[in-house]
Amino acid sequence: MTTATAAQLKVHNFSAGPAILPQPVLAEAAEALRDFKGKGLSILEISHRSKEFVSVMEEAQALSRELLSLPDNYHVLFLGGGASSQFYMVPANMLAEDKTAHYLDTGTWSAKAIKEAKKYGQVNIVASSSDGKYTHIPKGYTIPDDGAYLHLTSNNTIFGTQLKEFPATDLPLVGDMSSDIFSRPIPVDRFGVIYAGAQKNLGPAGVTMVIVRDDVLGKAGRDNPSMVNYQTHVDKGSMFNTPPVFPIYVSMLTMRWVKAHGGVKGMQRRNQEKADALYAEIDRNPCFEGTTAVEDRSIMNATFNVSEGYSGEAFLKLASERHLDALKGHRSVGGFRASMYNAMDLSSVHALVEAMQDFEKAHA
Ligand SMILES: Cc1ncc(COP(=O)(O)O)c(C=O)c1O
Repeated sequence: MTTATAAQLKVHNFSAGPAILPQPVLAEAAEALRDFKGKGLSILEISHRSKEFVSVMEEAQALSRELLSLPDNYHVLFLGGGASSQFYMVPANMLAEDKTAHYLDTGTWSAKAIKEAKKYGQVNIVASSSDGKYTHIPKGYTIPDDGAYLHLTSNNTIFGTQLKEFPATDLPLVGDMSSDIFSRPIPVDRFGVIYAGAQKNLGPAGVTMVIVRDDVLGKAGRDNPSMVNYQTHVDKGSMFNTPPVFPIYVSMLTMRWVKAHGGVKGMQRRNQEKADALYAEIDRNPCFEGTTAVEDRSIMNATFNVSEGYSGEAFLKLASERHLDALKGHRSVGGFRASMYNAMDLSSVHALVEAMQDFEKAHA
């Protein structure tokens, strides 16, 4: 495809991650790859200790603080290793060998976090929806008063469920917010740690934002390797080793964009509008059905299927003709998944709804 055709073609990107980024962010990032701040050098070829990159890091930290209204006793880190590294860094830093950590099991990513935590101490699963194939969020469970923390996955990217409220407990919460960070306001002060792989709502793959509260540091009493120790990264301002420079830069640009579009409240309005439009069509259209409990539906990833008697292949073909990209469900669950992260415009959801209506006209 020539550049001209690519520019004219509107591809609606429903990818679950790596995922859609705001067009102005991509344009500015492209320019920085060529010439960063008029230095005559690409952002990829300058030192992470140069004053230009240090100011990017500082702005990324300041914007995170501002957008999430972070109190002073929280540190913002930008680390490599993906959100998956936090599955072990959290217990390594917070779970002493003789203590118990509590986990809410709401999907594949929670289960992976649980598996890693068991390598560090005792793990108690407060509730799990695995028996129901993770199509709902467990409710009505009890959380013991004693424990190191309660870990939760705020949005289940694969199954399309989301915690609308966070569990009532005095334990510090630990949140994997990889697929809904900056999508809505959150009660930050209830969290000891929040982490998010960038590649869904924030930036390119390669950086994970980790927010750590002061009192969490040094809790496990374990002599962790330096790279695993949160304190190392706090002390060195995420510059203990070479940080993922370009993903941090693009994430900073995305945060500027979020701020310019009304911050997390603005994102929530935008995301709710998109989700309402799509779920209304899923519920109205006899050719489709939602796959999760209605009250737990994610406003980021909507999962659905064709109703019995209709061909999923035929719908995918139509979707592809309309340039509705990456609608196939995760390989472990099948069906369809429309990811509607912050950067997605309502018009893309309208294009999907129109395709579903045309599918109905042709097949129902
Ligand atoms: C909720 C959630 N947690 C963790 C991960 C794993 O992230 P990473 O690939 O950055 O390790 C993902 C990736 O899709 C995710 O959606």
